[in-house]
Formats: sequence, structure tokens, C-alpha cells
Amino acid sequence: MCGIVGYIGKKQAAPILLDGLEKLEYRGYDSAGMAVYDGAQINIKKATGRLKVLNELTHGGELLPGTVGIGHTRWATHGEPSDVNAHPHFNADHTIAVVHNGIIENYLKLKNQLIEKGYSFISETDTEVIAHLLDYYYKKCENPLEAVTKIMHRVEGSYALGILFADEPDVVYAVRKDSPLIVGKGKEGNLIASDVPAVLKYTREVYFIENEEIARLSEKNIEFFNVDGEIIQKESKTIEWDINAAEKGGYEHFMLKEMYEQPKTVRDTLSPRIKDGRIVIEELGMTDEEIASIQKIHIVACGSAYHTGVTNKYIFEGLARIPVEVDVASEFRYRDPILEKGTLVVIISQSGETADTLAALRLAKERGIMTLGIVNVVGSSIAREADKVMYTWAGPEIAVATTKAYSAQLIALYLLAIKFAQVRGKITESETTELITDLKKLPDQIEMLLHNKEKIQRFANRYIAAKDVFFIGRGIDYAISLEGSLKLKEISYIHSEAYAAGELKHGTISLIEDGTLVTAVVTQKDLYKKTISNIVEVRTRGAFVLAITNEENTEIEKAADYVIYLPQTNRYFTNSLAIIPLQLFAYYVAVGKGCDVDKPRNLAKSVTVE
Ligand code: F6R
Repeated sequence: MCGIVGYIGKKQAAPILLDGLEKLEYRGYDSAGMAVYDGAQINIKKATGRLKVLNELTHGGELLPGTVGIGHTRWATHGEPSDVNAHPHFNADHTIAVVHNGIIENYLKLKNQLIEKGYSFISETDTEVIAHLLDYYYKKCENPLEAVTKIMHRVEGSYALGILFADEPDVVYAVRKDSPLIVGKGKEGNLIASDVPAVLKYTREVYFIENEEIARLSEKNIEFFNVDGEIIQKESKTIEWDINAAEKGGYEHFMLKEMYEQPKTVRDTLSPRIKDGRIVIEELGMTDEEIASIQKIHIVACGSAYHTGVTNKYIFEGLARIPVEVDVASEFRYRDPILEKGTLVVIISQSGETADTLAALRLAKERGIMTLGIVNVVGSSIAREADKVMYTWAGPEIAVATTKAYSAQLIALYLLAIKFAQVRGKITESETTELITDLKKLPDQIEMLLHNKEKIQRFANRYIAAKDVFFIGRGIDYAISLEGSLKLKEISYIHSEAYAAGELKHGTISLIEDGTLVTAVVTQKDLYKKTISNIVEVRTRGAFVLAITNEENTEIEKAADYVIYLPQTNRYFTNSLAIIPLQLFAYYVAVGKGCDVDKPRNLAKSVTVE
């Protein structure tokens, strides 16, 4: 949440900052601002609203001349979205400017101490404390680097900071603790950013700043220091991502583009891990003995990533016969989970930065439990801290609502489940071959479903005015219902609920009335009859039922009002196909309602606060 950028080099900073902020707008979009040093002083411009307001206010950056600057796009935590609460924040004489992503937990205590020393505050933010605290220490030591290290000892919480000192105008400082921050080494200047897409246009050479490290950037140099101000060496990494991945490429929305990238994403996540008809997950680095000794798996994640965990509980248990618990990270971390020897904790995260998920990972590590991160963003905190990492090769995902990363997570988990089942002798060679054959068909099948979008698009147009939608299913179909419901509610603002189909009659069915839309996912052959009974139950109470089912299950037409058929696949992989019409449905309803599909209200892509 919140995106920060910084630039120092030969070019005008403000247009580069605006460009970087545009790539980071998914992280927060209720206000934005920039501070640029013009050769004599630091000038600051901030504006409530989307980045385009700041863009207009500064005439595309022209009104903020200078080659050194920092910028911010905000997702409000402390203080409502307003010009005054927008970043950058600054000290009284505008000689220090700060942009911040994270939360300063002890800001009230620090604020009161600073007020006692004569400082006054104009915003309601926690970040303003940093500007004044830097001022306080800088006045004492007259050394910007030392002032930065001093505040790091005082501030509690999470932060990625970009800092300008008017007295050291040829430098940008970057500091991080528990919020993501990278440094890009460019040919015509150096950059800082919360995430890689913001720098890709200028460089592929990137340094990942670790916790409690400081970077000092000048036009030609980048130096790194620890919290005691001692110089440290770091190695850069080359980012392989395709730069076009962070552009819309002719699609109306990033979400649509990313949905259409799913066949590729699935193929990219799958192909390198299937060799000579076997599943080979080299990065796992686990011997067969180690895999065989796993007694239990805990899957921990948030939101859609959690839903991939719910799906895969059925698959790990069904195929590999390993007991699996799935937890929402914000619950797991505070419930003192029982983590015994022989447990593997699987942490799933697209961004690799979600605060609760990261905390859950750290908790498992503290308890001496082996952790495996399933992560999309290379070099993210979870990728670096987990004992083992399996990447989902989805490339940058920009739309706030996840689609392609979700699909890639499903694939990574299927591979893992099959691998575990194979090693533990729970499936035969021929079963493995059948599973792999079906896995390989998924990209084309997804492509086909995307291609046939008209039917679901037409259907979605009828439900633009819906007030409530219910998603029901059993087993794996319940897991996909959770995701279908989340997709719809987060981008269209229509209230929706996912229910285990058999559970509906224990209360929720009272909400069904004439015309209520119920989406039933029915892909598990052994449960067809059971879910069809539930469809009949809601239909007799007035519901209109959209069913998503396998192409063989034509019987369902007698019970449901509208049917979308899925191509045949293994019973464990149906979520990868059922998600496509559900994503398309949510998308076209949201577009029909005129919602801001890529940036839904109140949300941010990377939730780096708990
Ligand atoms: C919903 C969505 C979120 C994320 C969740 C976890 O469309 O994108 O629910 O899945 O915030 O994010 P990551 O995977 O980055 O940890």
C-alpha cells in the first residue's frame, strides 16, 4: 500500500517520477505528490485523487523542474485522503522531504515528544513525524546519513522511505524496514521504487534493499549502509520481466489483458517443471526422503491466494494423502498455531510483501518449521525469507484484482501435490502420466474459454443491477465459489457470498428471493446429484441459477436456468477452468456498471499493512 519512487540523474525528475508512480498506482490511489529539488530549494506539489490530478497540476511535471526528486501515491492509513495528508511530508522550512510506505507504530509517542520540543504538525499522518525527527537529528549532527540512522533507532513499525535533504542536493536516500524498496541502476541516473515495474523503462539492473539498510544514490553512484552507518556491499540482480507486461497493450483494462495472459502464465509456470514425463521442481531442493517425511502441511495466505490454498487442501489430501490446514494469514499469526516437527508451511503470495503473510512466514521460521514460499514477485520479501521458493511465472500483475497470478498459484500447487503424491507412492506411474497429460491441456482449454467469452458477457449484462449474488459449490467447487464471489464483489461492488452448497439451508437460504442470482459450480462427478438438489432448493425459492459444469453433465439443464460448459479435465484441475467464466462475469458486470475495474475503491494491490 502506497508506492514510492525517487530519481536522481541527468534528466528532469518529475516526468520520470510521474511515470514510475503510474506503474505503482495499483498500490494506492487516493492522493499523490512529488518533491523536486530545483537547484536552490525543494518544491513540493501534492493533490487528492488519482495521479492524473497531480499530472495536470504540475503540467506533466513541467512545473517542478529539477533532476532530483521523490514521489508518492497513497493508500490512506493515518488521516483521510486530502492534500495536506498526501506525501511528501516535510520539515518546517522545507529543507527535508519524505515519502513513506508503511506504518509508524509509535508515531503518537514520537509526535508528542517532538511537540514538547517545539515542533508543530500540519497533517494527521504518521509520516510527518519522520520529517520532523530527521530535522531534529540533522540539526544536532549536521550529517544527513547520521540523521537517517538515528531515526531508524527511534521509529517502530514498517517503512520504505525516500528522503531529500536540501543541504545535500545531489543525493536521494532510501531506507527500508518491512516494506518493499528497490534501487534501479540506470545509465542516465539512478532510481528507487516500491516495485520493479516502476523502473523497468530505465533499467533492468536492480538492488533489493534488505531490512534496516540504507541506500545513498547520487547521479553516478549507489552506496549502501547498515543501520549503524557502516558501508555494506550488495550485488545487483537483472530483471528478466518483459517491459510490455506493465503496459495495457491495447486492452481496455489491465484486468482484461491479464485474464488473456492466463494461458501463457499457466504454460510458463508448468512447462519448466515437467521433464521427460515427470514433475521436477528443482528449486524445491528437497530430497525424496524429506518429502516423504512431511506429516502435515499448513497453507497460509490472504485473499485470492488463500483461495488457491483452499482448493489445494482437497488436492494434497486427495492425491498425496497429507493432512492440510489452510489459514488466512491474519488469523494464523495470532492464534498460536500448533506447528509440530514434520510440518511444512506453504506461504502463497503474488506480491511477496503482504504484511500478514510475511508475519506468518516469520512465525513459522521462528518455530523452526520448514517454509516454502509460492511467490510471483522475484526478490520480494517472502521470496527472500522463505526457506524454499517456487516462483509462479505470471510476470507483473497490475490490476488490483488478481487473475493470472491466481491461476499460476493454482498450477504451482497442483505440481507440488502431484510431486508429493508421486514421491510418497500414493499415485502410480500411469496416474501421474494421466495427471500430467491433463495439466498440459489446461493452457489451450483456458484459451478456448476466453475465446468463447460472448455467452458470459451477454449474461453479465443482465446482472448489472443485481444487489446480491450467491456462489455455491461443494468441495473444490466451494473453493472456486470463494474466488468467484470475491472477484465479483471487489470490482463491481455487488454484495456476494460464497457458500458450501450443502450449508445453504442452515440459514443463508432465507436470503434467496425472486430473481436472486445463484451461481452454482458443479464439476465434481461424485457430487453432481448433491449440488443439483441444492440448485433445485434455491430455484424453488425463486432463484435464477447459472451453472458452471463439465461438458458431460447435460442433465443439469433440467435444474439450472443458464449453463456454461467446461472442457473435460481431471477432477482436481477444474478450478483452473471454472475460474475463467467467473472472472469474465465479474469483469463484464463491473464494466457494465462503469466501475474502475483496475483500481476498485478502497483497495490496494499490495497490502503491506496488517
Ligand atoms: C483479490 C486479491 C487479493 C490478494 C491478497 C493477497 O483479487 O488480489 O485478495 O490475493 O491481497 O495478496 P498477495 O498474493 O500479494 O499476498
